[in-house]
Amino acid sequence: MKLIKAIIRPEKLSDVLRALYQAEVRGLTVTRVHGHGGETEAVETYRGMSVKMELVEKVVLDIGVSEPFVDVTVKAVMNAARTGEVGDGKIFVLPVEAVHRIRTAERDTAAVTPVAS
Ligand SMILES: Nc1ncnc2c1ncn2[C@@H]1O[C@H](COP(=O)(O)OP(=O)(O)OP(=O)(O)O)[C@@H](O)[C@H]1O
Ligand SMILES: [Mg+2]
Repeated sequence: MKLIKAIIRPEKLSDVLRALYQAEVRGLTVTRVHGHGGETEAVETYRGMSVKMELVEKVVLDIGVSEPFVDVTVKAVMNAARTGEVGDGKIFVLPVEAVHRIRTAERDTAAVTPVAS
């Protein structure tokens, strides 16, 4: 199991959600964040100009998946979130030790994908 942490542009969220749905990826968490991806902005100070780290609005998707869904999920996000301009975002893939579904006490692969009621 992996936790896929995708940091994307907020305006790409609905495209990415649609692509994930079409790829049959279910179960995710969306968080609005501020991030820094190397951009700086010039600021005036009394001694001249300096640079300050620019923070931009981004959206993080946390998606827990079983192994067969790792590549599918990464590809869906990459294709849907890309504009080709700097700041398109990043995808981290983290190992997951355990997943527990609280309702049924199922574990790991059986618990990672939500069950439609
Ligand atoms: N090394 C990192 N660690 C944690 N978060 C990061 C890292 N790099 C980027 N991010 C997050 O991803 C967001 C988007 O990053 P960004 O797309 O600018 O990455 P980049 O590697 O600079 O790529 P690009 O060259 O396309 O700008 C940032 O605002 C930040 O929230
Ligand atoms: Mg950047």
